[in-house]
Amino acid sequence: MTRRPDPVRGATITGTGMYVPERVLTNADLERMVDTTDEWIRDRTGIRERRIAAPEQASSDLALIASQRALESAGLCPDEVDYIVVATTTPDRILPSCACTLQHKLGATRAAAFDMFAACTGFVFGVAMARSLIGSRAADTVLVVGVETLSRIVDYTDRNTCVLFGDGAGAVVMRPCAQGEGVLAIDIHSDGELGGVLEIPAGISANPASAATVAAREHYLRMQGKKLFPFAVRTMEESTRRCMEQAGIGPEDMDVVIPHQANLRIIDAVRERLGLPPEKMPINIDRYGNTSSASIPITLDELTREGRLKPGDHVGFCAFGGGATWGAGVVRWTMARQGPIDGVPAAARLAATEVRA
Ligand code: ACO
Repeated sequence: MTRRPDPVRGATITGTGMYVPERVLTNADLERMVDTTDEWIRDRTGIRERRIAAPEQASSDLALIASQRALESAGLCPDEVDYIVVATTTPDRILPSCACTLQHKLGATRAAAFDMFAACTGFVFGVAMARSLIGSRAADTVLVVGVETLSRIVDYTDRNTCVLFGDGAGAVVMRPCAQGEGVLAIDIHSDGELGGVLEIPAGISANPASAATVAAREHYLRMQGKKLFPFAVRTMEESTRRCMEQAGIGPEDMDVVIPHQANLRIIDAVRERLGLPPEKMPINIDRYGNTSSASIPITLDELTREGRLKPGDHVGFCAFGGGATWGAGVVRWTMARQGPIDGVPAAARLAATEVRA
């Protein structure tokens, strides 16, 4: 008897969590650090403030709280996790991976854990990976985390970049579901030719850390923002359209599309090209700045905890980032409406309350 191959399973999001550090860095603070103004930053980017990790907090510490919240909202224990995928540009260290450190802190003793470097598109890549692992039956439970402590790689003497970025973490738990539910479409891309547009010139194999690289500030992030702007608008629109096409739906069927929070003007341009009203494209860049791979899962968690998402909703997300990378996804939502911050550990609840104040 020939064995029929197992059918591909659907994969869906069953839990969400987020964490941002308590320290707020305002535009007024930045006015005292570089030649900039609150007005310029708000007009050109939409950012009012961003969060900065405490000196003793590494990325895995932010990821830990977001992961605990996501697992709690999914009703799962850490030892039920099969894989941990951490999307980040700012791991605690290059070795060991941030994911392995998180696995240990979380007590997810059964989980295989690895980091994924796809810059700001990392969360979209992570969801694509989790969908494949679950669809192929290699895993039942995957924790996908987007976490950044960008304040550690930002040059606070460079006004072109330091006003943009912030720290934070978001996480989702993904589990099997019926075909036609959960992740309906994912679209991810890379173009290494654009690598120089956003880079950290030194520190690892191509240009190892030395006194000279440190003196030249080459271990900080450098960006050609003007080149990224039109690329971001075009790729996020095209990728979202490809996902809607794969899912067999149009912009009018989308309940929400979460954009990577890089610049309010980029978000507005993408929204206008997709023909979406403002209420369908949520914004939190004013409060957190650009948190790279964390920006989509942070927004997703805020929406679930505000009760904005209900089963059957079409939830999209799209991102672009260094590499260059870009991508999007469309999910047919399956989680029941969530309460505000029920069940969140007490230490974390304080910070969450403050964020919403
Ligand atoms: N304060 C005051 N002036 C500034 C600042 C600042 N913080 N930063 C730049 N300027 C100046 C520039 O020096 C320039 O001055 P000049 O005309 O005398 O040379 C002027 O403002 C205009 O600069 P532009 O580059 O034209 O400003 P623009 O409107 O393009 O905005 C920005 C710059 C915000 C960086 C924008 O291009 C952008 O958001 N690009 C995309 C960047 C991005 O999203 N990066 C992250 C992508 S990947 C990831 O998320 C990790």
